[in-house]
Amino acid sequence: MTLNPSADVVTCELRGKVLLVTLDHPPVNALCADVRRGLLAAIEAAQADPDVHAVLIVGAGRNFIAGADIREFGKPPVSPLLPDVCNRIEGCTKPVVAAIHGAALGGGLEVALAAHYRLAVDGAKLGLPEVQLGLLPGAGGTQRTPRLIGAQAALDLILSGRHASAKEALALGLVDRLGSSDDILAEGLAYVHELLANHAPVRRTRDAAALADRAANLAAVAAARAETAKKSRGLFSPLKIVDAVEAAIEQPFDEGLRLERKLFLECLDSPQRAGLIHAFFAEREVLKAPETREAKPRALNSIGVIGGGTMGAGIALAVLDAGLPVTMIERDDDSLARGRAHIDKVYDGLIAKGRMSAEKKADIMTRWSGSTSYDALADADLVIEAVFEDIAVKQAVFAELDRVCKAGAVLATNTSYLDIDAIASSISRPADVIGLHFFSPANIMKLLEVVVPKQVSADVVATAFDLARKLRKTPVRAGVCDGFIGNRILAVYRAAADAMMEDGASPYQIDAAVRAFGFPMGPFQVVDLAGGDIGWAARKRRAPTRNAAARYVQIADRLCERGWFGQKTGRGFYLYAQGSRSGAPDPEVDSIIDAERERAGIAPRTFTDEEIMRRYMAAMINEGANVVHERIALRPLDVDVTFLYGYGFPRYRGGPMKYADTVGLPVILADIREFAKQDPLFWQASPLLIELVERGADFASLNQSA
Ligand code: 3HC
Ligand code: NAI
Repeated sequence: MTLNPSADVVTCELRGKVLLVTLDHPPVNALCADVRRGLLAAIEAAQADPDVHAVLIVGAGRNFIAGADIREFGKPPVSPLLPDVCNRIEGCTKPVVAAIHGAALGGGLEVALAAHYRLAVDGAKLGLPEVQLGLLPGAGGTQRTPRLIGAQAALDLILSGRHASAKEALALGLVDRLGSSDDILAEGLAYVHELLANHAPVRRTRDAAALADRAANLAAVAAARAETAKKSRGLFSPLKIVDAVEAAIEQPFDEGLRLERKLFLECLDSPQRAGLIHAFFAEREVLKAPETREAKPRALNSIGVIGGGTMGAGIALAVLDAGLPVTMIERDDDSLARGRAHIDKVYDGLIAKGRMSAEKKADIMTRWSGSTSYDALADADLVIEAVFEDIAVKQAVFAELDRVCKAGAVLATNTSYLDIDAIASSISRPADVIGLHFFSPANIMKLLEVVVPKQVSADVVATAFDLARKLRKTPVRAGVCDGFIGNRILAVYRAAADAMMEDGASPYQIDAAVRAFGFPMGPFQVVDLAGGDIGWAARKRRAPTRNAAARYVQIADRLCERGWFGQKTGRGFYLYAQGSRSGAPDPEVDSIIDAERERAGIAPRTFTDEEIMRRYMAAMINEGANVVHERIALRPLDVDVTFLYGYGFPRYRGGPMKYADTVGLPVILADIREFAKQDPLFWQASPLLIELVERGADFASLNQSA
């Protein structure tokens, strides 16, 4: 019997005395309105049919249910609401059993908790990840979970959003039974038959007793509240979660549900929810670059890395961590030994912390080999060059690769700024050359800019995306320009920060304002961390081609001239006590800034934190618009993902372009025009921004089009 012929997403079939209810809504059985309707109708049908003695709910495909349909959030609600469906399931007077395989997340787990008995098989993932979307479990999860497993375990699950395995779920008491095979239907039916044979009663989670020890559960809530207030850094939903779980202890079930609903709607209305859900979809959209649809990736069984410095060693670690073999090439034996030592240091650190065994390291290192001869790369499927940032050095390396690598090998450069088209066209196989721009530390940072030069073939781009998947990185497709997506935009908002510093804001105030916005660090802390010498070298390289009329703030150069390169030299914009990684404001830096203001003839003025952020974000957004306009980024969401994964942009704001939409593009444009009165050369509104404002459109409208 199909209850919803129009959608066919929930089907019912009588198997003896058991009504088998199957959710079949690919790809992940999200609980869209049709599914909710079908599920409700199935329970009503089971209730009404005397031949039905019990109900079994299963998911078709790879998952039970991945949760509410995230695409519906922000749109007007459609009945039946999920909390009502869950209440109806729980209220059924015939036993309802959920058989879980794959994901039972968010609303999916809430459906299972509303059932009377739960079974899970190996590979199941149970969790309440709503917090990661700026929400809280809104279909009874905050009320049923603590009643079933106690406040502490419930808070741990809901505040972390983590997934529990079937085994852990059994230990926690989230499920009653582990299936022994992965045939979910057979396992589920066997369990229901057993329950029926034993005359198992209807057993409602709302009546479960894990909150009986009121004092202990309230203590867990108090501890979680204190911890969350400290840790949740500007996030809106975590403290609401604590309030809702507290209500599960303090109030009757229906009252608790009412509070949960109220808090859920508050979260749903928050810009944080919109930002986090934008991030969820954007990080999936970036994977679908056009070339990945057009071409199949080449094989990737062995990787070469040239250079064992900061980046080469980090990339080698990322490759080793992905289970692939890597060959490292260096200039001489000493440099190779240093490259190897970088890798040892990271793994030895893990061993010291008890996070890796010596045997595991030894096993991993069997996949590492090093050489000072390029001939060792003859069999490599893909080679990533990470030598000095100098086009002549890189072209010499590529000439060697052209000589030794097998036909079809992908030849990649990790350059930060150099012209990859010029590198590609210097060898005989430009179609195999691509940019793979990792971020430091490359074994940790998730972003990988896949830089696509003019002559590259589509299957090389597809291979780069496949490599990113294997390395568990988030790839963003970028075009060739100075700095690609991220560093190009960075240069512009850094210039805006420098100008504010010269005009009167201290670097410490700017950093504090940027942190208060949600970044983990301010721009001057970042300089100190990365090393002031890196930017200094880039500025010197660009000096001959810099527009002489453009404002150039020299403060950073004054620090570098003194050898103050940041953390590694103990001094930069901040002063670092011996070995310390957190810096203190430095009065001498203040004096240098004062002297520079005087030299430039600037009378310092005060800035509010709000003005600092308006200028900082306007600069970032405007250059983001330019990058999209020039097709360096395919869509605004590619800029957003770049900043979320490579530059510490607060995820709950969705990324700079999403943030611009939230503020309103006319506001951003008006700011830019206002700032232009002071420096018209720097503050030139992007043609794309102007066009969107004229059309009354936003960046989101461009996210579908690539
Ligand atoms: N709603 C709508 N679409 C969803 C979805 C959801 N809950 N979960 C996944 N999708 C979509 C993805 O966007 C993707 O679409 P695409 O193919 O068009 O890009 C597709 O399903 C497949 O997703 P993945 O690529 O992520 O597939 P994986 O197999 O890698 O992962 C998963 C599967 C573990 C289920 C993962 O998708 C996931 O974690 N989903 C989100 C789970 C979640 O957050 N649930 C809570 C929702 S909020 C809620 O339930 C509120 C309630 O309390 C009221
Ligand atoms: P590094 O100076 O730490 O390492 C460069 C290494 O390359 C040295 O070990 C050197 O011995 C080796 N090398 C130089 N010429 C060689 C050759 N011909 N053959 C073999 N090895 C050679 O530099 P780092 O920081 O690792 O940067 C490398 C590249 O990565 C540069 O292009 C840089 O722009 C880029 N990059 C750097 C980032 C960073 O944060 N450091 C971030 C992203 C990219």
